[in-house]
Amino acid sequence: MKTTLSVIKADIGGYVGHSSMHPALIEIAETALSEAKNSGMIIDFSVLHCGDDLELIMTHTKGVENQEIHKLAWDTFIKGTEKAKELKLYGAGQDLLSDAFSGNVKGMGPGVAEIEFEERRSDPVIVFMADKTSPGAWNLPLYKMFGDPFNTAGLVIDPHMHDGFIFEVLDIYENTVVDFSIPEELYDMLVFIGAMEHYLIKSVRRKSDNEVAAVSSTQKLNFLAGKYVGKDDPVLIVRAQSGFPAMGEVIEPFTFPHIVAGWMRGSHHGPLMPVSFEDANPSRFDGPPRVIAAGFQIANGKLVGPRDIFKDPSFDRARDTANEMADFFRAHGPFEPHRLPLEEMEYTTLPEVKKKLEGRFKKI
Ligand code: 13P
Ligand code: 13P
Ligand code: MG
Ligand code: MG
Repeated sequence: MKTTLSVIKADIGGYVGHSSMHPALIEIAETALSEAKNSGMIIDFSVLHCGDDLELIMTHTKGVENQEIHKLAWDTFIKGTEKAKELKLYGAGQDLLSDAFSGNVKGMGPGVAEIEFEERRSDPVIVFMADKTSPGAWNLPLYKMFGDPFNTAGLVIDPHMHDGFIFEVLDIYENTVVDFSIPEELYDMLVFIGAMEHYLIKSVRRKSDNEVAAVSSTQKLNFLAGKYVGKDDPVLIVRAQSGFPAMGEVIEPFTFPHIVAGWMRGSHHGPLMPVSFEDANPSRFDGPPRVIAAGFQIANGKLVGPRDIFKDPSFDRARDTANEMADFFRAHGPFEPHRLPLEEMEYTTLPEVKKKLEGRFKKI
């Protein structure tokens, strides 16, 4: 029996502003998913939030991109949106771009990461969820987990992963994907994935047997909608141990709170701060960007967990560094590199200001 893990998320309304989730929405999602569990549609579920993003983590045996499962998520978001509208939560239904469900939530707004696998004797999985950033935020940590021997000792000393991994990289402008075989093509790949608002690591597979190790959500909401309606706060599923990086190797990259895009109005850079579930409420200048990690042991489809992985004093220094970096970036105010380059900002007054100043720019 193969198990499918589906993580489907959406921002259906923030409390207060874009900072967090109202408990009523969590309750609605839990009720909807318990009904689905009781009816046998899903095996198990866990509902979490990272900031204002509602995260539905579900297991079942229906495979990836299953219409029934996607409809369950969609209907749950719709129910939550009704409540969000009643409470006048901020941006109710923000990520639901279409009024009618047409079979698959991909391309409709919600973020999706799904993975189907034959369970091993023990299958530890980490689900990462981030707010106030974009799917490009996973490039650096995924590169470190699966490509950097200074992070992942197993690449050097575990015979099961010594051959390396295949990284599937998506060009979000061209809508094309390319596979890189790592380590041989490491330098080629870095040319692309260093540009993390253009090229996104979509999945990682073990080279020796093509077994899937990681899958990210790669929806870019702002592209989907043609105009800005909310960012694409991403999720990522990573399998650990026994021929994959150990759990400690999977989470190690987050000790470095690297700079990501998406803070305040989707238009600023800032550090990605790893936090516990209870601290996933980005408030200062609507940030700084947050990431949580939910660890599960998957047992015949049951989600044994979640364990709150970043609730650990060994991440305190990363949080301190992130706060220091946040001060440093904030001091730049409206200047780059805190503010995103003109073409990447999600809010801009540029066309209007340009129009107002028409004729005042003189050729020299
Ligand atoms: P496995 O190869 O059994 O996953 O062990 C690696 C490990 O956990 C060492 O930290
Ligand atoms: P969200 O994408 O998390 O809703 O944040 C929007 C924003 O612009 C916050 O400043
Ligand atoms: Mg929001
Ligand atoms: Mg959000």
